[in-house]
Amino acid sequence: MLQTRPLHAGFGIEVLGLDLSAPDSDAAVDELVRQVDRHSLILVRGQALSNQRHVDISRRFGDLMTHVLKQFLTTGLPEIYVLSNVTEDGKPIGNHKEGWNWHSDLSYVAEPSMGSLLYAVEVPPEGADTLFASMHLAYESLPAETQARIRNLTATHSYAGYYGKAFADRAPLTEEQKARTPDVVHPVVRTHPVTGRLSLYVGQDIVKQINDLPADEAETLLAALNRHAISDEFTYRHKWQQGDLIIWDNRCTMHCATPYEDTRYRRIMHRTTVAGTRPF
Ligand code: OGA
Ligand code: MN
Repeated sequence: MLQTRPLHAGFGIEVLGLDLSAPDSDAAVDELVRQVDRHSLILVRGQALSNQRHVDISRRFGDLMTHVLKQFLTTGLPEIYVLSNVTEDGKPIGNHKEGWNWHSDLSYVAEPSMGSLLYAVEVPPEGADTLFASMHLAYESLPAETQARIRNLTATHSYAGYYGKAFADRAPLTEEQKARTPDVVHPVVRTHPVTGRLSLYVGQDIVKQINDLPADEAETLLAALNRHAISDEFTYRHKWQQGDLIIWDNRCTMHCATPYEDTRYRRIMHRTTVAGTRPF
């Protein structure tokens, strides 16, 4: 049995007293695999994970995806995507300003990620919190008529559109990267494939538009849903410590990075990304 405490009134738990570097912790990891469906987010503090162990733990959740920005797969293990402001030999070791908007990981592919495991290797003493919001709570708190109105709508998610906005100062995506990330259409309300619980599936920047409605109405609705989705009542703010591992369910949460003094402090985060299935 895991020893846990809640992180937020509606979702998220911290698991206490667990050393995931221990080879005999696989049974505990399998319990985390079961718990994430129910709690949407799991925090485990004070870990000392090798890159290989991080990948091995992640594999117990499912197959792993490799990020389209290959230049940030710098640990020697292609399953680990590095988020960082650190450069080595003049080259960034990771993607800086990754996730500086509300999103669910890999929502821009036809089969988006089921979940992510983000491990804090080095963190600034202040700033760079990550915000997480429960899209179950967001959907369930909508008025019934709004729920009915959006129940069968779809939205277009676009990585190219997002990349052009977020990273306008960088070299554009290559033809190969663009070919790997064509625009995709997903339901605005999705069903959790394990629990059957519904959630709101929207996002800033990556979600280009809501379909099936007149353009101005679609735009107003998307803005309203995005605003609602990140209300304080559905949001947990995580202040990172080195050695924190957070596992979240991309099928029913969104998250967003927050700024820090990036010319003064270093930040290195390692993420693995678990494959998922087509939203419905
Ligand atoms: C991610 C992400 C935000 C952060 O790892 O997918 O969006 O605060 N991270 O690093
Ligand atoms: Mn992310």
